[in-house]
Amino acid sequence: MSVPRPAAVIVLAAGEGTRMKSQTPKVLHELCGRALVDHMLAAARDLSPERLIVVIGHARERVGGHLAETSPDARSIVQTEQRGTGHAVRTVLEEVGPIAGTVLVTYGDTPLLRAQTLGELLAGHERQGNAVTVLTAEVPDPTGYGRIVRDGGGAVLGIVEEKDATPEQRAINEMNSGVYAFDGLLLADAVKRVSTDNVQGEEYLTDVLSILREDGHRVGAHLAADYVEVEGVNDRVQLSFARGVLNRRVLEAHMRAGVTIVDPSSTWIDVGVTVEADAVIHPGTQLHGRTRVESGAEVGPASTLTDTEVGAGAVVRNAVCDGAVIGPQVSVGPFAYLRPGTVLARGAKAGTFVEMKNANVGEGAKVPHLTYVGDATIGRNANIGASAIFVNYDGVNKHHTTVGDGAFVGCDTMLVAPVTVGDGAYTAAGSAIIDDVPPGAIGVARARQRNIEKWVLRRRAGTKSAAAAERALAEQEQRESGT
Ligand code: UD1
Ligand code: CA
Repeated sequence: MSVPRPAAVIVLAAGEGTRMKSQTPKVLHELCGRALVDHMLAAARDLSPERLIVVIGHARERVGGHLAETSPDARSIVQTEQRGTGHAVRTVLEEVGPIAGTVLVTYGDTPLLRAQTLGELLAGHERQGNAVTVLTAEVPDPTGYGRIVRDGGGAVLGIVEEKDATPEQRAINEMNSGVYAFDGLLLADAVKRVSTDNVQGEEYLTDVLSILREDGHRVGAHLAADYVEVEGVNDRVQLSFARGVLNRRVLEAHMRAGVTIVDPSSTWIDVGVTVEADAVIHPGTQLHGRTRVESGAEVGPASTLTDTEVGAGAVVRNAVCDGAVIGPQVSVGPFAYLRPGTVLARGAKAGTFVEMKNANVGEGAKVPHLTYVGDATIGRNANIGASAIFVNYDGVNKHHTTVGDGAFVGCDTMLVAPVTVGDGAYTAAGSAIIDDVPPGAIGVARARQRNIEKWVLRRRAGTKSAAAAERALAEQEQRESGT
């Protein structure tokens, strides 16, 4: 199908969205890694329109600010008072002037509408030489929607809003999606002639259809194959429904491209995530933002990755990773937390109950258990013993720790930054290392042990410990006296 390039796409997003019951403007609610309005803009962009226009009104500072950041190619036009869909379009055309060519009008709250469906609407519109073509759908329950009124021969006469409809018209189940392809110049003229003579006292964009028809122009309809696509989001129940549908689409695209998703019902992948063929995603996994998972990697179960790279063949289990770079063949988790600035080179390991941030871990280096690594460089093939802590914060400032290639940090070492453990150096278990350890040396920083004989018998008399000690000492005495 060759899709004609529209002269403009106008996205209406000035409404309040009261049913969301939210401090956040409706069109900024997030699903699958994008705000509602950004889903519509992404679909619009796929049509390569010459102009992309968004009508904003309610919370215009926030919505406008968001759009300036995420969609610099879109122009925001403010509709100060929301006096109806016709008024919204009139406001745009008064500001930018009449637009020659095809103008597509859509809403900012229909995230399921696919570019392909919009393309089919445009193609049908141009093929039939219509002045306007409305996207319609047959829905099980059309309550609340405008109905498509046709004559006996099936030609579209116009659209009647539920509130203005007769009982017979309310029985029509072909609804108006609110998406239209217009001849831009005819639209500019007709939208000025829309009245407010209706139950809601608004300027209805829907009236443009009957106006153009009465002028003798061709008015058509394009029936969407799947009505789910045109359903808007008005409350949080619909938001969660749309999220489920969108997520399922994303997962199916990945699966068809060769990704194994063990349990789609518990897997959530944002639209901006890349997953290569032959990666495996285990149950309970969420991949957010710009996360990228390379071929042969396994992520999950129960892992949440945001803006994280997972290299080929890496394994990430029961982990939370945010802004981390996990190299090829790396092992993460179970139960690891990787924070921004963590970079694990090929074959490295961040094991069980390990937290890292702003840490460069060299090739083959292992941090297997119970360790915090903050603001550090760890050399190739170094080994960090269980329960080592990189003490990076002195209460005021953060400092850096360097552990050299092949170094061996003993269990329960405190590395008090700034400090360097040289290449091939060791630290003794339980040491608090505050001075640099030269290459090849062992740093020992702990008090010598002394045992106080029979302390428990004297100071904890009558306890289970004292009883056990008495027994052991008596046996020892018997053995020593040789009886
Ligand atoms: C509108 C249609 C109805 C259709 C339905 C589909 C009209 C008169 N009716 O009804 O036939 O079935 O959509 O969902 O067009 N908006 C503005 N400025 C305004 C008014 C609305 O930008 O002044 C935006 C809203 O933010 C929203 C969209 O336009 O995204 C639709 O507005 P809404 O008031 O929800 O229209 P409906 O009454 O649902
Ligand atoms: Ca609506």
